[in-house]
Amino acid sequence: MHLSTKTLPQLSGKVVTPAYSRDQLKTRIVHLGFGAFHRAHQAVFADILAAEHASDWGYCEVNLIGGEQQITALKQQDLLYSVCEMNADNWNGRVVGVVREALHSALDGIDRVIEAMAQPDIAIVSLTVTEKGYCYLPSTASIDTDHPLIRHDLEFPHQPQSAPGVIIEALRIRREKGLPAFSVMSCDNMPENGHVTRNVVIALAKNRDVALADWIEHHVSFPSTMVDRIVPAMTPASLEKISGVLGGMEDAVGIACEPFRQWVIEDNFVAGRPAWEKAGAELVANVLPYEEMKLRMLNGSHSFLAYLGYLAGYQYIDRCMEDDNYVRAARRLMLEEQAPTLHTPDVDLGAYADSLLARYRNTGLKHRTWQIAMDGTLKLPQRMLDSIRVHLERGTAYPLLALGVAGWMRYVGGVDDSGETIDISDPLKNRLAEIVQNSAEGRARVEALLSLKSVFGDDLPANTAFVNSVADAYGLIQTHGAKQAVSLVAGNNANA
Ligand SMILES: NC(=O)c1ccc[n+]([C@@H]2O[C@H](COP(=O)([O-])OP(=O)(O)OC[C@H]3O[C@@H](n4cnc5c(N)ncnc54)[C@H](O)[C@@H]3O)[C@@H](O)[C@H]2O)c1
Repeated sequence: MHLSTKTLPQLSGKVVTPAYSRDQLKTRIVHLGFGAFHRAHQAVFADILAAEHASDWGYCEVNLIGGEQQITALKQQDLLYSVCEMNADNWNGRVVGVVREALHSALDGIDRVIEAMAQPDIAIVSLTVTEKGYCYLPSTASIDTDHPLIRHDLEFPHQPQSAPGVIIEALRIRREKGLPAFSVMSCDNMPENGHVTRNVVIALAKNRDVALADWIEHHVSFPSTMVDRIVPAMTPASLEKISGVLGGMEDAVGIACEPFRQWVIEDNFVAGRPAWEKAGAELVANVLPYEEMKLRMLNGSHSFLAYLGYLAGYQYIDRCMEDDNYVRAARRLMLEEQAPTLHTPDVDLGAYADSLLARYRNTGLKHRTWQIAMDGTLKLPQRMLDSIRVHLERGTAYPLLALGVAGWMRYVGGVDDSGETIDISDPLKNRLAEIVQNSAEGRARVEALLSLKSVFGDDLPANTAFVNSVADAYGLIQTHGAKQAVSLVAGNNANA
C-alpha cells in the first residue's frame, strides 16, 4: 500500500497530514528541481503556511534533467509525499500537500513545462537544480557559452533544455501574451545565487533577442536566498525507515532530513510572494553576508570533512565527528580561517560553529562524505578559494583551507588512503582524469590541477605562496595519509 489521497486517513495521528483543503490552493510557484532538498525545505515552508496560516500558494514541481522516477511516483501518489525529521532515536513524519501539479520535460514534453510557467497565476519560478544547472563558469559567475545545453538552446530556443533557456522561453511567451513577469528565485548553494541566475538568464537572452533581454532586465527580479537544512540523498534503508514512520505505508518520494531549517530571502519579488516569515524564514534587504557565512562555515567545513574524511575511510559526516582531530580541524577552520573573512556583525560565530558541529554529530543523519564531495570543481571557489584570496591579501595564515584544497586534489586523484578506487562525480570528471593521468604524483599534480581556470582563475596559480601552501599540504597527505595530516595540521597550536 502506498501513500495517496485514499490511504491518507489510515496514517496514525503521529504523522502530520494536510489539514487544509488542497483544492483551494492555486499553482502560483513553478519549481525547477524536485530533488531531495526542495522536498525537505521550500515545500515544507509552504506546507506550514497552508496548514497554519491559510496560505493558498501551491506548487507545480518540475524536473528537467534526471529524477523521472520521482515525478512519476509523485503523480501515482496524488501529489503527496512525506518528510521525516530525524534524530538518532526519533523520527517525526509530515505529509506535504502543497504540490498541485508535477511535470518532467522528458515524460510530459518541454512544451507542457513552458506552458505551466506561462500561466497567468505564476508569480515565482524557483530553482534547486544544483550548481551544474546554471551552466555558468564560477570564475566569471556568468554563462558558459560552450556548455552543451547552452549550445543546444542557442540553436533551438523554442525547445530549450537548460534551466536558463526554459526560463527565457517562458518569459518570452508571457511578454508576447501581455502577462506580467515572474520572480526567479534560486535556492542553490552559490554566493549571490540571485546574481548568478540573473547573469546567466540575461546573458543567454541577449544572445537570442536583445529586446527580450531588456524586458527581462526591467521586469523580472532575481532575489538571492540563503538556504540551510541537511538533506542526505535517500537510500533504500532510509526509505524503509520512512515507511516505518508511516505505519508500513510506502512512499517512493519520501524524504528524511535533520530537524533544523533556515531560510534567508532577499525581499525583492515583482509579483508577490507567500508570507514565508510566518513559517520562520527571514526576509532581508541583503542576503550576501548570510550566504557567505553559510557557504564558508557550513559548506566549507563540510567539503573539508568530505575530502579528508573520505580519503581516511569515513563514509559519513557523523563518523568524522568521532575523530577528535577532525572535530578540532572543522572548528578551527570555521573560526580561525573562515570567520575572519565574514561580514555578519550581529551573528555570534562561535555559537554558530558549535551549532554546526552539533548538527554534524546527529547519528540519525547518514550524510555521505561522497555526496558532499561531488562537483568539487563548482564548489571549491565559494567554499574555500574566496576565503583564501582574503588571507593572501591580508597576509594571514590558512593552513586548514590549504589542506582542504589539497584534500580535494588527492580525492580527484581517484584513490583513497586504503588504495581503493574513488568514484569521482564532477562535471569536469574527464578533464580531471586527463590531468591526473598526465601529471606525476606530488607537486607536479598540484600545479597541473591548479591550471583549471574555471576553478582557480589566473591569480591563484600565479601566487607562489598559495601554490607552496597547497603543495606542502598535499605532500603531508601523500606521506602520512589524510587522518594523520588532519591531526598534524589541526593539532598545531591547538587552542580550539
Ligand atoms: N541536500 C542538501 O542538504 C542541500 C542543502 C542546502 C542546499 N542544497 C542545494 O540544493 C541542490 C540540490 O540538492 P539535492 O539534495 O536536492 O540534490 P538531488 O540530487 O536530490 O536533486 C538534484 C535536482 O537537480 C536537478 N538537476 C540536476 N542537474 C540539472 C541540470 N543540469 N539542469 C536542471 N536540473 C538539474 C535534478 O532534476 C534534481 O531535481 C544542491 O546542489 C544545493 O545547491 C542542498
